[in-house]
Amino acid sequence: MSEMTKVLVTGGAGFIGSNFVRWAHNAHPDWQITTLDKLTYAGRLENLSSVMDSARHHFVQGDIADAAIAGPLVHDSDMVVHFAAETHVDRSIQSAAAFITTDVIGTFVLLEAARQATHLKRFVQISTDEVYGSVPSGASVETDELRPRNPYSASKAGADRLAYSYWATYGIPVVITRASNNYGPNQFPEKVIPLFITNAVDNIPVPLYGDGLNVRDWLHVDDHCRAIDVVMAQGTDGEVYNVGGGNEVTNVDLTHRILELAGRSDALITRVADRLGHDRRYALDTTKLRGLGWAPHVPFEEGLASTVDWYCQNESWWRPIKEQDQAYRAYYHTQYGSRANV
Ligand code: NAD
Ligand code: DAU
Repeated sequence: MSEMTKVLVTGGAGFIGSNFVRWAHNAHPDWQITTLDKLTYAGRLENLSSVMDSARHHFVQGDIADAAIAGPLVHDSDMVVHFAAETHVDRSIQSAAAFITTDVIGTFVLLEAARQATHLKRFVQISTDEVYGSVPSGASVETDELRPRNPYSASKAGADRLAYSYWATYGIPVVITRASNNYGPNQFPEKVIPLFITNAVDNIPVPLYGDGLNVRDWLHVDDHCRAIDVVMAQGTDGEVYNVGGGNEVTNVDLTHRILELAGRSDALITRVADRLGHDRRYALDTTKLRGLGWAPHVPFEEGLASTVDWYCQNESWWRPIKEQDQAYRAYYHTQYGSRANV
């Protein structure tokens, strides 16, 4: 066991984290993976069912902001991949406190623990393209000014720069990734793609914000996992790497595609009040990461079709959330009830 690489994955029961744990467990037989996850509303143990019985994976339920739990796990790690965060922009607009506590203070606790670690070779801070703010034209490069415009992206920008500061100040081997919008299996049905797919399956309205012309760049989660792996192996300490899918799509175009794939009518589209401070467009220049040999592989048409298929095949995953989870139903009502009764 001594030659095993010990990898701590925070937030590994969530959407991207669980895809990464499953992917890495297959790709790296020499990795001993520990998942640290608080299991908030977004964290689901069933996302990890395929690795829960593996001797090469260990699950710890806990809060990254709790130094007594997180500290020893960081000290014992060769690499940390830090996904854990509050992640939904609309929830951050409703109430930002948990975003500050987890995304900023939680990251601070992990970085402080990293200062005491003796054999840490990598600390991957999973940041987001939202830290650049809205990009009316062109594409963000890693050296651009950060102009976050909502509480979620501001908390992520705080974490992003805090991680950088621990490299610049203490030499912690931090690398930072800023990915665009991910899609794929196991995404919680609050984000636009799984929400619209599952509403379409049930033949109920899909609530499109504002004029529907906001643009997102869609990245399949498998391509994101490979990008993180590349950065872990080849990234340079203190550097930032954009990870974009190169699939810029307006929300209304995305919605038409989802409805077509689900075999539903466009009449399900319900225009609702816009998100406050809604960023118009994100776009990333990925030249730097491509220089390390990475490129996205999943064509958007194929990835979206397989994602629609996944939700159709896995109703047992999302239906209990949407129909029985009282916290989800309360969130849905607060978010959409006053908008358009959907
Ligand atoms: P998610 O909401 O699906 O999962 C977040 C996970 O973190 C959950 O399992 C949750 O239980 C866990 N968590 C939350 N607070 C915690 C705490 N205090 N301690 C321990 N665990 C905690 O999120 P996601 O979409 O998978 O995003 C993962 C990371 O990737 C986040 O840092 C997010 O900012 C970043 N990111 C996401 C996207 C995207 O499109 N989803 C794009 C770029 C970057
Ligand atoms: O860009 C990366 C970010 O992508 C990540 O950092 C975030 O964690 C992730 O949540 C995501 O943020 P977005 O706000 O872009 O994703 P969301 O799925 O919430 O919304 C995508 C677009 O769809 C956005 O323009 C708002 C719109 N939308 C969303 C919802 C939930 C709607 O029109 N209706 C909806 O009901």
